[in-house]
Amino acid sequence: MSRYTHGHHESVLRSHRWRTVENSAAYLRPHLTAGLSLLDVGCGPGTLTADLAARVAPGRVTAIEPAEAVLDLARAEARSRGVTNVDFVVGDVHALGWPDGSFDVVHAHQVLQHVADPVAALREMRRVCRPGGVVAARDSDYAGFAWFPAVPALDEWLALYQWAVRANGGEPDAGRRLLSWARAAGFSNVTATASTWCFATAEDRRWWGGMWAERIAKSDLARQLLDGGAATPADLARIADGWRDWAADDDGWLTVLHGEILGRC
Ligand SMILES: C[S@@+](CC[C@H](N)C(=O)[O-])C[C@H]1O[C@@H](n2cnc3c(N)ncnc32)[C@H](O)[C@@H]1O
Repeated sequence: MSRYTHGHHESVLRSHRWRTVENSAAYLRPHLTAGLSLLDVGCGPGTLTADLAARVAPGRVTAIEPAEAVLDLARAEARSRGVTNVDFVVGDVHALGWPDGSFDVVHAHQVLQHVADPVAALREMRRVCRPGGVVAARDSDYAGFAWFPAVPALDEWLALYQWAVRANGGEPDAGRRLLSWARAAGFSNVTATASTWCFATAEDRRWWGGMWAERIAKSDLARQLLDGGAATPADLARIADGWRDWAADDDGWLTVLHGEILGRC
């Protein structure tokens, strides 16, 4: 299994906890109907999972993560929302512990960019999806991020981030590859789309820029960059300042490009 680049520092969780079906799985929304069974691969802290669960209730959601500690966060999220139709299970997308055809919908948000073998992962997701069901995956594409104004430290951030994910066996520019991975995994009926997050208000900039200023300085990513000799503490401090400068600029605008696939099983 590859290493998950971000880890689960509070600054990382802050980003995951913002996610909803509306802002992160709109392409799947027409396929979410009451009573379906859904597997959520790499659920993280489980905010998106809880939203998916509300849409398929009384159907059940099974949420997996490689580590129990992350599942504890997701369990707490479900509890705090009164969501009772989610089962949390330790698991790895490369070897799912269910028989063929177990789920109506198999979903992974921002997971395939981090795994060692995304084609094998999609093949396994397809295996546990029932005939007539759907496999849904959405991943960001870092080379497709766009922002204004130009901030040289953010170019450094992008290059370091891409280096770190690849060093961990992942692919940061996954969005554009999802269709090719799905076809290689055996899907013959795939719909590929794209969507973005856009941060262009003072509040959104403060949230996104502030989060990355902390992530680059304090998350597992920071440790990897320092330990790997890819950056010095001064580099990371400069990049954090770059994010704060971008966030403080009234003209600041940034989009996060995502690729999406819906594969019919
Ligand atoms: C970017 S987070 C996304 C979390 C959640 N899906 C969301 O969008 O809020 C990616 C998650 O995938 C998990 N992950 C990494 N490798 C995995 C694997 N081989 N199998 C299952 N989950 C994995 C990580 O632990 C992490 O929590």
